[in-house]
Amino acid sequence: MFLLLLFLLVLNINVSSGVNYSLETHYTVVTGIPSVPDFWAQTIIENVIIGYFDSKINQFESEQEWMKNLGENYVKDQTKNYQQFTEILKEILKIVKKKHNDTGGVHTLQQICSCSMDDETGIHFSPVGRSAYDGTDMILEMKNVGLVAAMEQAAVIKQKLDGAHDFCMYCHSLECDKWLQEYIYYGNSSLQRKVPPQVSLLQTDSSSPVVCHATGFYPDKVNISWQKDGQDLHEDVDVGETLPNHDGTFQKRAKLKVTADVWKKNQFTCVVEHKSGDPIHMILTEEKIRTNSAGTASSTS
Ligand SMILES: *[C@@H]1O[C@H](CO)[C@@H](O)[C@H](O)[C@H]1NC(C)=O
Ligand SMILES: *[C@@H]1O[C@H](CO)[C@@H](O)[C@H](O)[C@H]1NC(C)=O
Ligand SMILES: *[C@@H]1O[C@H](CO)[C@@H](O)[C@H](O)[C@H]1NC(C)=O
Ligand SMILES: *[C@@H]1O[C@H](CO)[C@@H](O)[C@H](O)[C@H]1NC(C)=O
Repeated sequence: MFLLLLFLLVLNINVSSGVNYSLETHYTVVTGIPSVPDFWAQTIIENVIIGYFDSKINQFESEQEWMKNLGENYVKDQTKNYQQFTEILKEILKIVKKKHNDTGGVHTLQQICSCSMDDETGIHFSPVGRSAYDGTDMILEMKNVGLVAAMEQAAVIKQKLDGAHDFCMYCHSLECDKWLQEYIYYGNSSLQRKVPPQVSLLQTDSSSPVVCHATGFYPDKVNISWQKDGQDLHEDVDVGETLPNHDGTFQKRAKLKVTADVWKKNQFTCVVEHKSGDPIHMILTEEKIRTNSAGTASSTS
């Protein structure tokens, strides 16, 4: 079953055409650290956290204004689901720990359920479930540790989740699709908004790389690159990960390693492409560089 899901995941990536909306729920259960909740979960759409639950607050919390429109039972139902799932995942962790002969100490089990749809074609992609024990993907484990043991673990989880109808809702195709559609419908104005990036060039001192920093944009998909005399530059360029800002927007940076000598003789341009508008071209000049790197970059969460 998990092998099958793996194939679907690979296929999905190849057939994407329009706007890909994804819904993910991340569940984490931890043993051995008294100061943190032993279970927490996040609901994430378009890489923005919309819901949170943990075993200390024992209550589902909506993180977005528009979720009020989901009805008065929404929070109550989610809370009930998560409370049940807490117990099931704790039990699964016990089983997996036993299989690893791990008795004491700190151990974690993570479960991610996700589904996605192409908004232009209306095609839904099959939901995908993934599990990791102590940070090791149980699917990837097949390669390293041996097929049989990994399959056994995956089967235990699958069985448990199949028994838990309420919980598996994000992994179960109809329910995940249903919620994804509901969220896109009710969250439309927020999820489909387009906020353009603010682009700036930063440098700590004259010998450090020039950082092209794009921030404040939504949605998270962005292309950021450096050009030398109009040609795409790959060498000496280091593009970072897209990171979330506290306000639901995103940031990303691309570092260019170049000496002042070289950039004064050639034209270097940072190009930022985002669907909020035309590509932004920022030509590297001395005046455009902001030198106090501390304080200019937005904080990340
Ligand atoms: C849609 O996006 C999600 C998360 O970014 C990804 O896991 C999934 O493979 C994508 N699906 C397609 C069809 O591109
Ligand atoms: C756990 O212990 C049993 C009995 O000592 C042994 O047969 C098994 O291989 C061990 N499993 C692992 C994952 O180390
Ligand atoms: C969703 O939001 C976009 C942009 O805010 C708007 O153009 C579109 O009409 C909305 N769609 C629906 C179904 O409300
Ligand atoms: C980023 O580049 C890829 C490949 O050229 C393109 O398909 C995609 O539309 C671009 N994304 C944005 C946000 O412009």
